[in-house]
Amino acid sequence: MEAFNLPPLLLSFFLFALLQTSTIAVKKSYIVYLGSHSHGLNPSAVDLQLATQTHYNLLGSVIGSNEAAKEAIFYSYNRHINGFAAVLDYKVAEDVAKHPSVVSVHENKGRELHTTNSWSFLGVENNGGLPPNSLWNLANFGESTIIGNLDTGIWPESKSFNDEGYGPIPKRWKGSCEGGSNFNCNRKLIGARYFNKGYASIVGPLNSSYLTARDDQGHGTHTLSTAGGHFVSRANIFGNGNGTAKGGSPKALVAAYKVCWPRVNIGGCFDSDILAGFEAAISDGVDVLSISLGGSPLEFHDDPIAIASFHAVKNGITVVCSAGNSGPSPGTVANVAPWLITVGASTIDRLFTTYLALGDKRHIKGESISNKILPVQKFYPLIRALDAKNNNVSNIEAILCLEGSLDPKKVEGKIVVCLSGDIANVDKGYVAAQAGAVGMILTNDKEDGDRLEVEAHLLPTSHINYIDGELVYQFINSTKTPIAYMTHVRTELGVKPAPIMARFSSRGPNIIEPSILKPDITAPGVNILAAFTEETSPTGSSFDKRRVPFNILSGTSMSCPHISGIVGLLKTLYPKWSPAVMKSTIMTTARIKANDLNSILSSGKEKANSFAYGAGHVNPNKAANPGLVYDLSTEDYLNFLCARGYNKTQMKLFSNDTSFVCSKKFKVADLNYPSITIDNLASEVVKIKRRVKNVGSPATYVANVKAPPRVSVSVEPNTLKFTRTGEEKSFTVVLKRVPNDYHRGSVFGRLAWSNGKHHVRSPILVVLG
Ligand SMILES: *[C@@H]1O[C@H](CO)[C@@H](O)[C@H](O)[C@H]1NC(C)=O
Ligand SMILES: *[C@@H]1O[C@H](CO)[C@@H](O)[C@H](O)[C@H]1NC(C)=O
Ligand SMILES: *[C@@H]1O[C@H](CO)[C@@H](O)[C@H](O)[C@H]1NC(C)=O
Ligand SMILES: *[C@@H]1O[C@H](CO)[C@@H](O)[C@H](O)[C@H]1NC(C)=O
Ligand SMILES: *[C@@H]1O[C@H](CO)[C@@H](O)[C@H](O)[C@H]1NC(C)=O
Ligand SMILES: *[C@@H]1O[C@H](CO)[C@@H](O)[C@H](O)[C@H]1NC(C)=O
Repeated sequence: MEAFNLPPLLLSFFLFALLQTSTIAVKKSYIVYLGSHSHGLNPSAVDLQLATQTHYNLLGSVIGSNEAAKEAIFYSYNRHINGFAAVLDYKVAEDVAKHPSVVSVHENKGRELHTTNSWSFLGVENNGGLPPNSLWNLANFGESTIIGNLDTGIWPESKSFNDEGYGPIPKRWKGSCEGGSNFNCNRKLIGARYFNKGYASIVGPLNSSYLTARDDQGHGTHTLSTAGGHFVSRANIFGNGNGTAKGGSPKALVAAYKVCWPRVNIGGCFDSDILAGFEAAISDGVDVLSISLGGSPLEFHDDPIAIASFHAVKNGITVVCSAGNSGPSPGTVANVAPWLITVGASTIDRLFTTYLALGDKRHIKGESISNKILPVQKFYPLIRALDAKNNNVSNIEAILCLEGSLDPKKVEGKIVVCLSGDIANVDKGYVAAQAGAVGMILTNDKEDGDRLEVEAHLLPTSHINYIDGELVYQFINSTKTPIAYMTHVRTELGVKPAPIMARFSSRGPNIIEPSILKPDITAPGVNILAAFTEETSPTGSSFDKRRVPFNILSGTSMSCPHISGIVGLLKTLYPKWSPAVMKSTIMTTARIKANDLNSILSSGKEKANSFAYGAGHVNPNKAANPGLVYDLSTEDYLNFLCARGYNKTQMKLFSNDTSFVCSKKFKVADLNYPSITIDNLASEVVKIKRRVKNVGSPATYVANVKAPPRVSVSVEPNTLKFTRTGEEKSFTVVLKRVPNDYHRGSVFGRLAWSNGKHHVRSPILVVLG
């Protein structure tokens, strides 16, 4: 799987394709799914042994020996997911797939990994104080909620996980600290485990440096501290973003499950390790699981995150996932199962700016978090990388400032202009610095436009947008002696408008099930400051010898734990709320306006829509008091899968109950989701059903509809009177196109149930067929 902080998604191949194309007998690792266990939620030791024995017997019956089966199986999933992971010959895998007890066999594939000020931006704090309606107040900072993450592990010594002032670990916690040697948990970081057998089955035997839950990449420390890190004052990177760092649930307890390892060419997080991480987290008793990784969107029965998270949700655990960083192209959103909360990424009102002054007195705003300043406060000669090129490289190699492309004789003592792309920007800075440059201006090509990344460059650097880059090139052309000056980096707050959707944030439609809108919500995911590992540098490059306790990263990997932290607070406040209710309250209270009260924009400055932000931008304080909620049970999800055409075998992946009878009347569009999507509306009248539960005091709600253009929408009944808390009422939404209209495309509207105090909003999306 992929950590969703920006490296590209990888192509993934299915066993299906493999079986058809490959004839070579090589051993590979596979996941064999048998369905779900018949034992209950709290299996005894005997149950677990029996389940594992079943796995040995099954594989043994195919390969002829239980001993050999024991040798081949490296994970037996004996608690929630029923199955095992094993190293097998291709031919054996094919035979196993034919066994009557086997649901499916998949190759063990790799996936990739997809602060401070963001909590003030979200309104739970205010200049270090708490506004009267702060969810932090109500929920006592998420006290005693347990948040787990599946990620690259954790840096246990980080101050964000300091346990000063924490009481004893709750008795309900069944996990333990198995983080390896020199790894200590405490009363804040209450659990740690690592899962590397699936990774080893791909890369070969691992040495002792892999026997740890310690974070070697920084990603897991960053995400878990964003969800549940404690208060740390004076947190910053090179002085940038200085302030008190904290997670969404600052007093929550946290547990780290390391399932991601150094990236090999097919990812760094392998399915079999992810499944093992889920199994452990569910049994250990986490309340919230934060998953900032994934691959390309997959059908639920082929998607290990969808399968495993179903078992988590069945156990009352809310699972929050990143949407992916493959935007802004449509249809890129991943982690799309309806039982997940899927999170897109947007900006906050903070920038890290460095201004550029050109010799002609023009000023240009750039961004960076470089800790370096120009040697002397003066103008320096400016040179295009193309004009500084070594003779042995092509023009494009020089323009991109690739390794060995710049001639030190031409660059020495100058500010060099490099085009971003092809390699990491910090690596370009390294090339420029090696060649003797005093500074670097990074420009974007037209396609990257105004996508700016703030990075911990090794020399003074200003990343500027495409249009400003053209200005710089023109200026250089216009004079014999181009010169420029760069200011040191400054943290600017109160930037408007915000939020703006991040360009990289993966977009809908949901290509697996178009009638479930994904992502569900957007949250801060651009330039987020949070705790980091001290095992690697802030840039992750080996030439960078710096170590930092906090770092700034961007990605849906960063927005996901914001929602996990908010769910943590809600869990403290309402321990009984189901994962579906958590999602409902977060979605129906979301904002769809930016801080200047205009629509939330896309990075291209046009209006963003629900394909980018789902229900809108999270609004934590409001989420504490939603009025009405859309709840869902395990049975609803099973009916949803039946209605999507899953057969008995496929259903076994999700349910142990072979006697479960699918409701014939159930329609996919009727899943009681907090958003409404009609995938392909032609001339017919479509009626969809929903039900809302009152979680407030007795009240009468009236339906307010903003119909999507070209569609008429009515709600029956359009008044719902609740006489008590917990009461549920159903309603029908009737949608119809205006007559004689043949327009195609997606149109957006909204349904809001209102009692004057609460506005329970759901996006309406109609795809006109
Ligand atoms: C399935 O699991 C549940 C708990 O998850 C348990 O209560 C039930 O008895 C199991 N059903 C069957 C058919 O084994
Ligand atoms: C373990 O292997 C990695 C590469 O696979 C290597 O970089 C590291 O130095 C090794 N560590 C030990 C303790 O042998
Ligand atoms: C961060 O802020 C604190 C208090 O506001 C101040 O004492 C400290 O010097 C600042 N640190 C940096 C690196 O700017
Ligand atoms: C080109 O030549 C220079 C010096 O002659 C050398 O340092 C550099 O590595 C070479 N570049 C490439 C890409 O081979
Ligand atoms: C700079 O001048 C060169 C040659 O005079 C020309 O080819 C190029 O397009 C100019 N670039 C800009 C950005 O004006
Ligand atoms: C269920 O569907 C899968 C995939 O189409 C198929 O391989 C399998 O045989 C089916 N099982 C049953 C019981 O129909």
